[in-house]
Amino acid sequence: MTQERSLGAQIEAAAAALRRGELVLMPTETVYGLAADAADPRAVARIFEAKGRPRFNPLIAHVPDLALAETLARFSPLARELAARFWPGPLTLVLPVREPDMVCDLARAGLDTVAVRVPAHPVALSLLRAFAGPVVAPSANRSGRPSPTTLPAALEETGQACAAALEGGPCQVGLESTVVALLDGQARLLRPGAITREALAQVVDLAEAGADDAHRSPGRLTRHYAPESPVRLEADAPADGEAYLAFGPCGLESGLVWNLSARGDLGEAAANLFAFLRQADAARPRAIAVAPIPTHGLGEAINDRLRRAAGYVG
Ligand code: TXA
Ligand code: MG
Repeated sequence: MTQERSLGAQIEAAAAALRRGELVLMPTETVYGLAADAADPRAVARIFEAKGRPRFNPLIAHVPDLALAETLARFSPLARELAARFWPGPLTLVLPVREPDMVCDLARAGLDTVAVRVPAHPVALSLLRAFAGPVVAPSANRSGRPSPTTLPAALEETGQACAAALEGGPCQVGLESTVVALLDGQARLLRPGAITREALAQVVDLAEAGADDAHRSPGRLTRHYAPESPVRLEADAPADGEAYLAFGPCGLESGLVWNLSARGDLGEAAANLFAFLRQADAARPRAIAVAPIPTHGLGEAINDRLRRAAGYVG
């Protein structure tokens, strides 16, 4: 009881901080977010500054329910179907903006579209209900670094810029939301993520990714998710002085070895990925070698993050 009351009090204090234009560390089911009032350009500017994020990279608006989402974005029947199927949950929809002032120009990087999602985390939902307006929240890492999946990791990244930080435990999913654009009657996958291509395909036909999709999801242009150490992919074993992220049964027990999932489970690997990258990096190895990861299901998003961490994708 006491704990519940104190969590309630913390959430009220965090909502008050958002109303004052301050930043809050918010847990979600995917990764920790650095949250601000989406309508307040000065608060949003603080996010870009704290992360060192390029201004051309727009933010995701988080809302407690579809009703609020519909006030800020234009939903097609297909958008409503996707929301009904996957919200609350790790799906972000990029839609035509409806009420531009609710998610300020800076947060949208000047685009006439807006990215929106309803996170599936009780603490996030309580904060969003208490605030009663859209909250933008990029992953709480400094720009280009691995996303934080625990509160201590989030505090280390951007804690100094925050007026409040909410504990939500380790993120259950561990990978960012899947970003889907619904702009010209077609659904396009802009960022693979926690909702797999296979799961989306049960609801919607995904158009082949177009050459201009990178421009529609500007954040995809940058090197990203990268630790300090170089990352070497598709490694069957570590070389001398390397840390190793294994996947599946692996004879290596000693040395700098972290197994993303000894039983070869992609969900478990996704949940461990960023935390293990951080732990391996902290050992200051010559490089972090990573085992081959299957490409189906969540493997698509895991491989996407790893390629970017290794700097293979522009
Ligand atoms: O799981 C998540 O989505 C986490 C948690 C905190 O919710 N947030 C997150 O935010 O990953 P961020 O800022 O790290 O990534 C947002 C992505 C970027 O790739 C950005 O370019 C894209 O969404 N995005 C945002 N608004 C967009 C828009 N209007 N059009 C196209 N892409 C957009
Ligand atoms: Mg991010």
